[in-house]
Amino acid sequence: MAESVAASVLHRDHSDMTSETMTVAASGTWKIGGLELTRIGYGTMRLAGPNAWGPPYDRAEALAVLRTAVEAGITHIDTSDYYGPHLVNELVREALHPYPEHLHIATKVGARRTPDRGWPAALSRRELVQAVHDNLRRLDVPALDLVNLRMTRSRAAADIVDPFTVLAELREQGLIRHLGVSNVSAEQVRAAQRIAPVTAVQNHYNLVSRYDDALVDWCAGQGIAYVPFYPLGGIRSLQADALDRVAADLGVTARQTALAWLLHRSPAILLIPGTSSVAHLRENIAAAAVHLPDRALRHLDDLTAPRRRTSM
Ligand SMILES: NC(=O)c1ccc[n+]([C@@H]2O[C@H](COP(=O)([O-])OP(=O)(O)OC[C@H]3O[C@@H](n4cnc5c(N)ncnc54)[C@H](OP(=O)(O)O)[C@@H]3O)[C@@H](O)[C@H]2O)c1
Repeated sequence: MAESVAASVLHRDHSDMTSETMTVAASGTWKIGGLELTRIGYGTMRLAGPNAWGPPYDRAEALAVLRTAVEAGITHIDTSDYYGPHLVNELVREALHPYPEHLHIATKVGARRTPDRGWPAALSRRELVQAVHDNLRRLDVPALDLVNLRMTRSRAAADIVDPFTVLAELREQGLIRHLGVSNVSAEQVRAAQRIAPVTAVQNHYNLVSRYDDALVDWCAGQGIAYVPFYPLGGIRSLQADALDRVAADLGVTARQTALAWLLHRSPAILLIPGTSSVAHLRENIAAAAVHLPDRALRHLDDLTAPRRRTSM
């Protein structure tokens, strides 16, 4: 009896894991050089306390979220040393080091934290070099897989030149494998491309915030990954009657519908939804298995008339 109970538990665990792993694999992958990133990834920002500041509310759960993500087959984790600050990268290392070979950790530099929980720009040569070394040390890796240069308020092309040149030099030195950009205009992406290859763009984009529609398509054409942050709306979770109706028709949650829409929107889109909960992580992973029929896509497209921030 004891044996059969154990066997059934084992079987259930194994089959759950297998179906989750299959779901992540079925979402497809995107290659950045030699790195193969699953289109379902995970963003670590929510592991810190409110406003990405301070320790997690539930440390054991935070570690479990990271381990569950990797066990489910996710190979793309997005983090930054300024989450916590520092604490989130320390959690990543504690949960996952030594890292499996197939796991790729993307990080961001270009901001710093102030005691009032602000995020001012930190784009000087000294600050960027320091930030890259901080990430290397806390994550305990010899080189960073992907570093996104996070711009702040400025949308002017010229303003990205100096900081991106610093990161390009660090890449030449072997401290960084691939470069991306974040919070950027189309002009800034093009200006960065003239300095070094841009492999990823990480901007605010989701079902109802579609200012980047043209940039999303342009990135796909260029072979650049487009990684939307706030895929679920961030702190103001996505809310729309039409979204709820479509989700109810499909028998899934509104969040799963929003994530499935992003996966459908462009093959270059890689998801990094953030959560501090294993249950929510599992729900988000399951979004990759949601099929959106044409009728649902039409309703979702009608939610917001696309507004174009970028003309390419
Ligand atoms: N480049 C940048 O400037 C920038 C800016 C912001 C974020 N990012 C990156 O992008 C990632 C994603 O953005 P985000 O985490 O801010 O926003 P998000 O993924 O749109 O939403 C995260 C929020 O949704 C909740 N949530 C997630 N899954 C859920 C589920 N299945 N059911 C109910 N609630 C759920 C989370 O709360 P729970 O913890 O309770 O699940 C959290 O409050 C971040 O983690 C970070 O890595 C980058």
